[in-house]
Amino acid sequence: MTVTELRTPCVLVDRARVERNLERMQAAADRRGFRLRPHAKTHKSIELARRQIAGGAVGVCCAKLGEAEIFADAGVDDIRLPYPLNPVNAERVVALLDRSRVSFIVDHWDVARGWSDALRREGQEVDVLVKVDVGFHRCGIDPSSADAAELIARVAALPGLRFRGLLSHAGHGYGASSDAEVRAIAQDEASILANLRERVQALGVAVDEVSVGATPTVRFSLEQDGITELRPGNYIYFDRTQVTLGAAAWDDCALTVLARVVTRPDGGRIILDSGSKTLTNDLARGFSAAPGYGAVLQSIDGVQTPDDSLLIERLSEEHATVRASGDRHPLQPGDLVRIVPNHSCVVSNLVDAAWLVEGNDVLERLEISARGRIT
Ligand SMILES: Cc1ncc(COP(=O)(O)O)c(C=O)c1O
Repeated sequence: MTVTELRTPCVLVDRARVERNLERMQAAADRRGFRLRPHAKTHKSIELARRQIAGGAVGVCCAKLGEAEIFADAGVDDIRLPYPLNPVNAERVVALLDRSRVSFIVDHWDVARGWSDALRREGQEVDVLVKVDVGFHRCGIDPSSADAAELIARVAALPGLRFRGLLSHAGHGYGASSDAEVRAIAQDEASILANLRERVQALGVAVDEVSVGATPTVRFSLEQDGITELRPGNYIYFDRTQVTLGAAAWDDCALTVLARVVTRPDGGRIILDSGSKTLTNDLARGFSAAPGYGAVLQSIDGVQTPDDSLLIERLSEEHATVRASGDRHPLQPGDLVRIVPNHSCVVSNLVDAAWLVEGNDVLERLEISARGRIT
């Protein structure tokens, strides 16, 4: 079967590109002796998590316990949640321990104490890392505060918690405006963590792990020392944002949306059936302006060159309004297009299954089993 026989809109995942993206990242991590623990938020697929682990990854990351439960049930036996879980979830964490080694982050004294109390009551011990804010200013302790190392030492001494090390996420790399800026963010991240590690070790506390991870910065994290683990997620599919950030080429983008032209109101306007329910309202980020809600490719045959005369200028839930510039564009109602979305992680969260393809041949259905697990 070819993609022309699929119902639209739908999500296509190019198997050869996924393989290449996974192999490249694993090889790069192996060359540096860094462990790779991909964030499964991007694919949310049991099959792809297994493929990552078979290729050398030490386990996966999940943001939510609901996702971790799906992967643990499927036999993934090492799951890290780099997310500030609240101790109200203690029962769910303990239930997971039967089937998987579980670790999570803490970045707040009261929360760490809450976990310690809850786990002690359950007679359990769990691995924790302390999340460090390296400039994204979302979660994490402030490494410049005078008592940061003391706070970590106090967390490490709490019963019920097995302190493993430090973890950061340089999400501010998505806001960088040049390669040099992305590199500087990765360098800063590594040096902030190295400095804090020394301060903590000076208090007699072992820091065995230093975990970093974000797809824009990972290429430069590979140049740094003192790191033990990489946690990129988006690298499995990449997307328009990663191309615009210099982290990928169009040919690396493994996830595309297949959409159909449903009407052609005038020469300049083409309406597709892929609205915000498929493409999402996320805008692209990156070094240069990338307006609109995705890049329409010139063909559906798997060759990935964007058609620069088409701009997806507006989305409603079920429609994409595409503005065509220049001479009258040949697309007509019924025609298919492939779109590289701005942000692939959120697209895969919106569908129960994608189609694994090679070129425009459909190979098989790819279940996205952990999608929609928001708790
Ligand atoms: C804590 C954490 N680690 C790792 C990642 C993976 O980042 P990326 O999707 O940029 O590879 C994310 C993504 O949101 C994250 O929140």
